[in-house]
Amino acid sequence: KPTQQLEPKTRQQLWEEQQLESAVKASGDVDAIHVAGSRQYEFVFDDDALIDFTGDDENTLPEVESAYDQKLLDELDREQTRLQSIQDTRRSLPVYRFREPLLSAIKEHQVLIVVGETGSGKTTQLPQYLVEEGYTKSGTLQIACTQPRRVAATSVASRVADEMNVVLGKEVGYSIRFDDKTTPDKTILKYMTDGMLLREFMTDPELKKYACIIIDEAHERTLATDVLLGLLKDILPHRKDLKLLISSATMNAAKFADFFYDAPIFNVPGRRFPVDIHYTLQPEANYLNASITTIFQIHTTQQVPGDILVFLTGQEEIEAAKQNLEEIAHVLGSKVRPLIIAPIYANLPQEQQSKIFEPTPEGCRKVVLATNIAETSLTINGIKFVIDPGFVKENSFVPSTGMSQLLTVPCSRASVDQRAGRAGRVGPGKCFRIFTKWSYFHELELLPKPEILRTNLSQVVLLLFSLGVTDLIDFPLLDKPSIPALSKALENLYLLGALNSKGSITRLGRMMCEFPCEPDFGKVMHTAATHDSCKGVLEEVVSIIAMLHETSSIFIQERANHDSSKSSIAGKVFSDHVLYLETYNRWKDMNYSRSWCFDHKVQYKTMIRVRNIRDQLWRCCDKLGLVALNDQASHTLNGSSNLEPRIIKCFISGFPKNIAKLGTSGYHTMGVQQGGVNVSVHPTSTVFQSLRKDMVKPSKFILYQKLVLTSKEFMRDCIPIAREEWLNEMVPHYFKAKDPQ
Ligand code: CDP
Ligand code: MG
Repeated sequence: KPTQQLEPKTRQQLWEEQQLESAVKASGDVDAIHVAGSRQYEFVFDDDALIDFTGDDENTLPEVESAYDQKLLDELDREQTRLQSIQDTRRSLPVYRFREPLLSAIKEHQVLIVVGETGSGKTTQLPQYLVEEGYTKSGTLQIACTQPRRVAATSVASRVADEMNVVLGKEVGYSIRFDDKTTPDKTILKYMTDGMLLREFMTDPELKKYACIIIDEAHERTLATDVLLGLLKDILPHRKDLKLLISSATMNAAKFADFFYDAPIFNVPGRRFPVDIHYTLQPEANYLNASITTIFQIHTTQQVPGDILVFLTGQEEIEAAKQNLEEIAHVLGSKVRPLIIAPIYANLPQEQQSKIFEPTPEGCRKVVLATNIAETSLTINGIKFVIDPGFVKENSFVPSTGMSQLLTVPCSRASVDQRAGRAGRVGPGKCFRIFTKWSYFHELELLPKPEILRTNLSQVVLLLFSLGVTDLIDFPLLDKPSIPALSKALENLYLLGALNSKGSITRLGRMMCEFPCEPDFGKVMHTAATHDSCKGVLEEVVSIIAMLHETSSIFIQERANHDSSKSSIAGKVFSDHVLYLETYNRWKDMNYSRSWCFDHKVQYKTMIRVRNIRDQLWRCCDKLGLVALNDQASHTLNGSSNLEPRIIKCFISGFPKNIAKLGTSGYHTMGVQQGGVNVSVHPTSTVFQSLRKDMVKPSKFILYQKLVLTSKEFMRDCIPIAREEWLNEMVPHYFKAKDPQ
């Protein structure tokens, strides 16, 4: 009998129930049934009671039984309707009409470029067609579909699992860094980030387990996609049976065709309704405020239904806008219809992502606050209005200074056109651009700049070296990076010890490739296990690195008071790295408890992810033999006192270029030939707090993990370097040459 009432059952559970029911009917006699998994009903029966779900069992209360039966039937009905409507939706997508011609084109050509409007079904349908067509050879081969963004990979995988009526992680799965939801020998369709497929070349250089590779969203031109295309071009002649599909929004298609020796382009005509474009008359200084005003203007003057999509640049901006909107909506109260605010950005915890796809209840309006992830990778139904300030956050690397920054820059014309198109999927729409018409025609670039031309290439160069590609000049690429960018990468890898003076990859370099993180972190972990002056701190360093991967969402910030959540843990901690370590260790000591997180204003879900990342890094260290080396070393470490200097040294070894020196006018970066750049400690940093409270004197050197440019150049995640000689000790060939300062 029902013991407790919980959420509605999943399809898997319903299916299990049906199976069970028929099994019971068939056998006619069962002792006890404990339905597997996280079931909401638990059946426990007397030893020799006969179970019969048809209702004439004397041990079960008839009213309970029939209520239960009815509920089950209702649910099955609903489920039936749902499945039917999913199949109807599938058939209504633009690609559906081209299923047969697409499949024959794929059969005929090894490489096919598929172009179509966003929302036409490329990402969700193409892989399914390939599965249906038998390309997976009864499950012995796989189909991979790459995505530039993690969120797209996970959300599309879950949608497709739904459409195929399977459980996510079994036949259909996803694989993104630090999170692999696939089952070996079972998964036939895998959505993955382009970076993950790139890594697979290390273990399977000809990608033998795949029958088809779909490089999706190729127009995004991420670094990983570009390098993948190069590597694929190399292996295609040896893998005649491998099918390569490159799918892209309308921009750029010809370039891909050229690259693959005139591969055919298959156009999927999309349906698109007209979108009215509105510009501001004057340039807007504060686009965030302007966007919020526009949201309320739309909300109060336009009829529902019709949801709003706003393009912002990142998590902080989105969260700020969300809070602002909620406050205003609260003040307006019942004077306006309810607004449902749904954020979406890369770091948004998965469980909160589905909100953007939920149908908007009648009489309400949904406002989706998105990064440019909603430009082409995700299709959100029901959008009628787009608000576009026309900015995007981009990584930008300046080879001459060796510095990487996240910069907010104007979008390209192609991007803002894509964004506008999002308003015209369900019917005629409107797009409000928070910039002038003049700026559209005179200031915006035509196309976005491919990432390979604006990013630090160290990691990719190292990966290519490990795959035996050393001739970087001749390696096939859609756009060649500049020579200075390449030499900077080589120089950096040499500095880290990943390449030797002859330019070949070292054992350390190969190790760094194995880690699922930037080579610099790999070096830090290697140092922590092996370097004479600081070994034995691998445990600590791995925890810090895991935390550094999630810094944006560890501490719950109160708006007015940046440090409130940290201060209870911070105590006498004067660096962010040690604060992260303390936080992790104290949580661990409390048995990874949820309530500890709550008490200390730490995000529990983020910490669970950190723990998962930490476990993976640790396993990797173990596999590479670093754990064993570290164990030997830590025996000789007396007690755990004074670990900090060792930790600092490890980070110096991995990030020698991220060091700033205190001068007369504040901190100044060192990793540059001429001058350097003035930088300040970010106000959210523990270092900033302790300086402000005069708890410590500013140290002469400081190591930072990230530079962000907002009102000025800020250093994030900082650790003061107590002694100058550590620099020389850890990276002599770099700092000796730089001296004397
Ligand atoms: O890749 P493309 O932009 O061509 O389209 P898609 O991502 O395959 O989306 C096809 C359809 O699936 C869209 O109409 C979406 O509404 C729907 N979809 C969805 O409802 N939920 C998702 N998580 C993904 C797609
Ligand atoms: Mg797509």
